[in-house]
Amino acid sequence: MNQAIPLKLADDPVARRIWERSATAIHGQDPQRGAPSSQPVSHYLNPAQLADELALLKTLPMPVAPIAQLAQPGDWLSTRVHGVPVLLTRDAQGGLNAFINVCRHRGAIVVPEEACGHGKTRFVCPYHSWTYDACGASVGRPHEADFPHVPREAAGLVALPVAERLGMAWVIATPQTGFDWDGYFGPIGAEVEALGYNSTAFSPERRQFVQPSNWKLVLEGNLESYHFQYAHQKTVAPIFHDNMVVHEHAGDHHKIVLPKRTLAETSANTIDMDLVGRHTHIIYYFFPCAFMLWEGDHIDLFTVSPTDVDHCDVHGWMLVPERYQHRAAEHWQKNDFLFWETLDEDFALAASIQSGLRSGANDAFRFGRNEFACALFNESLARRLG
Ligand code: FES
Ligand SMILES: [Fe+2]
Repeated sequence: MNQAIPLKLADDPVARRIWERSATAIHGQDPQRGAPSSQPVSHYLNPAQLADELALLKTLPMPVAPIAQLAQPGDWLSTRVHGVPVLLTRDAQGGLNAFINVCRHRGAIVVPEEACGHGKTRFVCPYHSWTYDACGASVGRPHEADFPHVPREAAGLVALPVAERLGMAWVIATPQTGFDWDGYFGPIGAEVEALGYNSTAFSPERRQFVQPSNWKLVLEGNLESYHFQYAHQKTVAPIFHDNMVVHEHAGDHHKIVLPKRTLAETSANTIDMDLVGRHTHIIYYFFPCAFMLWEGDHIDLFTVSPTDVDHCDVHGWMLVPERYQHRAAEHWQKNDFLFWETLDEDFALAASIQSGLRSGANDAFRFGRNEFACALFNESLARRLG
């Protein structure tokens, strides 16, 4: 299981670049700013807007479960991805499969939703017992002769694109072929994978809840640090600099470095990602719905999926790469607690915004030059919506 992870390389060029750009930002020589912008409030309230957004989201990858949870043949998991019932299976050949979890007879949900388990080779619909194997093939139908018009080859579960990347199983909620996974993840995905977030990462913690706000408010709240010193006074404000990010984006994905105050007091000849991880946090945001926060020895990640204009489903996990898995459960619990205590502050503010959206106070949200990542997110969305 041991594999070379290039974290110990002296003068890792990725690490050095992060370090030097952070130091420059701290000394005020590279204040990252973009153009001021605004977004119509109607974009957070309009069901037609949301329908267009959901149609787009369903064509793009969404992380749905840690690979470690689906590691062995017979492992399975059911969930929803942007409203589509999804079943994931690990087949006897070791392949990971994703299907629409809907029976091909008369549409019943085949496997109970939001469940998981091990050692399952057959999935039986509770209605008339049409049966599928872990590859989705139809392998049993009572009174089959009564279905001369539905050949067995046409009665298998509908497959969805699935990939194993960055420690997670990623699913696209629309059947399609030829999706360019390498192109989607790009250099930011490669950087996360090189940090050890692959099939060996495990997930000691997870969350799931309904958030009473538009999905975009949740993401915007996590793409700027302008609010840290005010909204996070009880949690992480003392750790980070005020109003400072070191930002890069590749395509529609973002990498946002948050230098800690300790970085300014630290000098080092050899810069590696261990050092960077002790003195920064890095947000890796994968458009449109996946937010990852790298905190040196683990990643906290969450996804958002809109259910209506006023609500979204949130799923969260913690991912720990192999090299840090020896650390005690209490360490991960402590980290998980601080992450969600901080996030709860953000989520409460997003809910408060949503509750006032219909007041008429604002026609538009104003994003400052310091909130340019929010503007870039909205530009990506608008461009892809055409
Ligand atoms: S709906 Fe599944 S067997 Fe009839
Ligand atoms: Fe926040």
